[in-house]
Amino acid sequence: MRSTVGKTTVTLELGDITGHKADAIVNAANSSLLGGGGVDGAIHRRGGPDILAQCRDIAANQGPLPPGDAVSTNAGKLLARRVLHTVGPIWRGGDEDEPETLVRCYRSCLELARQEGLRTVAFPSISTGAYGYPIDQAAQIATGAVVGFLHEHPASFDRITWVLFEEKTFGVYASALSAISAGKRSSDS
Ligand code: APR
Repeated sequence: MRSTVGKTTVTLELGDITGHKADAIVNAANSSLLGGGGVDGAIHRRGGPDILAQCRDIAANQGPLPPGDAVSTNAGKLLARRVLHTVGPIWRGGDEDEPETLVRCYRSCLELARQEGLRTVAFPSISTGAYGYPIDQAAQIATGAVVGFLHEHPASFDRITWVLFEEKTFGVYASALSAISAGKRSSDS
């Protein structure tokens, strides 16, 4: 599944983000930055202890990472160059700024990537696992946030990818991305 926004290719892949080759992969972390399950666990398992050591230093210096913020570490043994750690919102029904916080996760990671000159970035489906965010709503928010950011910065990235772990999640993101792309085409015409 592929779309283009400005000079950026936006793609979806089905698989394990820890095996994805990009300048940066995004970790769906928690505020402690000390690891967990899901994507977080996989990244630390496969990336090795160096990533956790850097996360510990960051947490020691600046305290817990607030939901919506992002920090950058090297990628240890992973194929990526950098890991961008962000904390998604825990779904509590939708009336506690979950959508706004989820948008901030994507924008914070892309802003950090721009600052570091990282031109290919891969995201997991932030918050739709342990944090319980309904996938259809998360996919619409995620694709809208990323496409909106790319319209603001049309030459900053070569490729943005979501690496999705389940067929169901892939299908929901494919529908969301198609809808956004169709909307873009109609507004361009
Ligand atoms: N590659 C890509 N996607 C993955 C992988 C992987 N290796 N492992 C899990 N996923 C998918 C999940 O299936 C889900 O669709 O990533 C999505 C996000 O799930 P979580 O990893 O549970 O992330 P999140 O919902 O944001 O919850 C974060 O869980 O692991 C802990 O420390 C983490 O406390 C934090 C919380």
